[in-house]
Amino acid sequence: MDVVVLPTAADVAAHAAGVVADRIAAQPALVLGVATGSSPVGIYRELARRRREEGLDLSRLECFALDEYVGLPGHDPHSYAAYLRREVADPFGLSAERVHVPDGVRADLEGAAQDYEQSIAVAGGIDLQILGIGTNGHIGFNEPLSALSSRTRVLALSAQTRADNARFFDAPDDVPTHCLTQGLGTILEARQLLLVAQGERKAQAVAAAVEGPVAARCPASVLQFHRRTTIVVDEAAASRLA
Ligand code: F6R
Repeated sequence: MDVVVLPTAADVAAHAAGVVADRIAAQPALVLGVATGSSPVGIYRELARRRREEGLDLSRLECFALDEYVGLPGHDPHSYAAYLRREVADPFGLSAERVHVPDGVRADLEGAAQDYEQSIAVAGGIDLQILGIGTNGHIGFNEPLSALSSRTRVLALSAQTRADNARFFDAPDDVPTHCLTQGLGTILEARQLLLVAQGERKAQAVAAAVEGPVAARCPASVLQFHRRTTIVVDEAAASRLA
């Protein structure tokens, strides 16, 4: 596991976007795993800038979301499908069918989870997975005590995660209670992992992920098993590393 510590959140975005852009330049039809939430937004905006100003071709990417809320249709602006249209598909010039998101409104959610695993397999697996980290150490929405070998499935969101994500909704009670998320085992199958974290509120989770024991109480600690993982953090998020 490589850990890169940079002074500011802007530096984190620029560095991580450079890692992604280099991979895309070498392999334009890259299968890219795209986290949502606030952490990767700077990466997506920098990639879109490189597309506009430097002609980086993003149109051949195949993108896979990490997760989706249960019960939010794709036209709901709070859904991750809508987020990925705003931050990835439109600014990257990608057609909608190249951005895959688990179907959180299907009656048969377990079937939707299995289909999602299948669609990743059909694409040949994820080449590069971008990740954020929750304040409780979750990756995707694999909350503490998730099985380290878990696959895409339905999960209840923890009270901590619902409180953390309330800032994206009009009222705390609007945050969905359940999600479909790639499992930790699914994430570990990506050929390369790139986790970004910014700010002091992530410092404890980053320290547990990087220096703690590999344990289900910090799901991100499972990344210690992956042979090609880079963690890019600003100084605030690195402040609890030894
Ligand atoms: C989002 C995801 C989550 C977030 C994490 C951090 O697809 O899978 O693991 O990366 O909750 O969220 P932010 O970046 O909003 O702090």
